[in-house]
Amino acid sequence: MPLKKAGREFKACCPFHDEKSPSFWVSPDKQFYHCFGCGAHGTALGFLMNYDRLAFPEAVEELASRAGVEVPREAGAPDRDRDSSDALYELNARVARHYAATLATDTRAREYVAKRGLDADSVERFQLGHATSSWNDVLRRFGGNDAKLAQLAAVGLVIEREGGQIRDGERHYDRFRDRLMFPIRDARGRVIAFGGRVIGEGEPKYLNSPETALFHKGRELYGMYEVRQSRAKLTRLLVVEGYIDVVRLHQAGVRHAVATLGTATTPEHLKRIFRMVSEVVFAFDGDRAGRAAAWRALQNALPEVREGREIRFLFLPEGHDPDTLVAEEGAAAFERRVEAALPLSEYLVRELAAQGDLAHADGRARFAELARPLIARVAPGVYRELLIGRIAEAINLPATRLAELWQAGSAAPARAGAHESGSTARRRAQPRARPRGAGRRGLVGQAVQLLLHHPAAAANVDGGLIEALLQVDEPGLPFLRELLDELRALPATSTAQILERWRERPEGPRLAELAAEEMLVTDTRAAEREIATALERLAAGARQRRIDELLARSSEGDLTAKEKLELQWLMSAKAPAAPARERGSEPR
Ligand code: UTP
Ligand code: MN
Repeated sequence: MPLKKAGREFKACCPFHDEKSPSFWVSPDKQFYHCFGCGAHGTALGFLMNYDRLAFPEAVEELASRAGVEVPREAGAPDRDRDSSDALYELNARVARHYAATLATDTRAREYVAKRGLDADSVERFQLGHATSSWNDVLRRFGGNDAKLAQLAAVGLVIEREGGQIRDGERHYDRFRDRLMFPIRDARGRVIAFGGRVIGEGEPKYLNSPETALFHKGRELYGMYEVRQSRAKLTRLLVVEGYIDVVRLHQAGVRHAVATLGTATTPEHLKRIFRMVSEVVFAFDGDRAGRAAAWRALQNALPEVREGREIRFLFLPEGHDPDTLVAEEGAAAFERRVEAALPLSEYLVRELAAQGDLAHADGRARFAELARPLIARVAPGVYRELLIGRIAEAINLPATRLAELWQAGSAAPARAGAHESGSTARRRAQPRARPRGAGRRGLVGQAVQLLLHHPAAAANVDGGLIEALLQVDEPGLPFLRELLDELRALPATSTAQILERWRERPEGPRLAELAAEEMLVTDTRAAEREIATALERLAAGARQRRIDELLARSSEGDLTAKEKLELQWLMSAKAPAAPARERGSEPR
């Protein structure tokens, strides 16, 4: 991004929303960006996660490799592993280039590509290629010695002959022969696997790389990298079934299409998707197999549904897939279908209703019975309530009554399910509940914000004051103490460092919001004084409350001797705060 210097900061037109004059600021001191227009904010890692849509570890790898820094590995994943996986990525990349070069010169393969309606731009964007019909083309080019051969086998490009047979001096043969090749890339664009389609007729129609160290089918989505590269404004992803479908859709201008890799949609897919967008539409063929796949997708999606996430289902006319449909009716008509896709709740009700006759009581009872285990997979919350409401409506029952019936008759497995989602919901509810204290713009909030903008100030906070905070009972105070302790034990040099340390903790998002707010105190010395003042006032407030409490009880005459001493001590104006009561120290 073209950044312009403006005082101590830099500014630019915000990449997260459309604007003509710059309201996007980057602070080198804080290592933090913030847009006053749309509110986008974050650290360098956060930027890569939001803009390039990388996952956290990918963003770390990316920045580290740009900075020439090694990312330390935990035990169990020694560097040797990474060196070798680097070599595997490199090998895949070279083979992908080789396949692409082959496609460029092979007339029959090029004719097939043309027949499928794929243009040169698509071929390049998706780096399509061709594997020749040879049994050992890749083997001979890339498997020159034992080490290289082992790497080819490790990425699944060659297969060992059964029983260790040797033919023409070779024990291995190429996995992909005479196929149109689709490199499968990870978020960073590294080739992790291949899919290959037979040219013309043949079995199997599609062949994929096996699971390898680099490739886990249940996690990857074909086209994710290309979606990211398109840089189109992204609010939703469309999940289709085939490679060709993805390429064709992108070519037609439907740039948010990805495909599962010959597997059902997994919860892991959904997690990935919802890290990028809040809405997903699954497209399925209108045939029997498509419907079965859709129902599986729904079941896998249930644990991931919640308010703020939209999941919808698009059923294509029978005999069509996205490839043929977009060819026939064009992108605009296809997008209209996507717009009109069925919300998960409607699809669920429709499917269950098809299983019994809702005009009769036993049909409605059966409906409720079928719905119960499905609802149990949904985390408690607004979305679940709405879903229950929708089901109740379908069987003409008040939602509260339905919930009661389910509760009463709930069998062990369903309860276990509900339990499990209950605890995840509690874990999720925390971030909303806790940071309110941390960020309350009372004294606690002020102190937190000052520390966030001036981490160096923590070192100079008076130890006695921190001690005195033990007496203070305010929302957010435990967090303030934790922040102070941590910054004193492990000083941070920028706002971003603090934010990264708290990234996965409940207070993280609230801290980032505080960091994005303008700070009027720009000087660290001044910040130190303000922090001290805030802490003193917190301690004084707590002292006063304790005095009031003791005085009130003293007027009723029921203070212990120890409490009387405490009161005396508190009222001697000099005391910064009461001695640590809970540690049982006697008043001096
Ligand atoms: P389809 O059989 O619907 O193929 O498989 P398609 O995508 O429409 O392909 P074309 O139009 O005939 O070329 C959908 C997806 O299922 C997986 C592939 O990922 C494929 O894209 N699949 C299918 C396999 O993995 N193996 C197969 O043998 C068939
Ligand atoms: Mn097809």
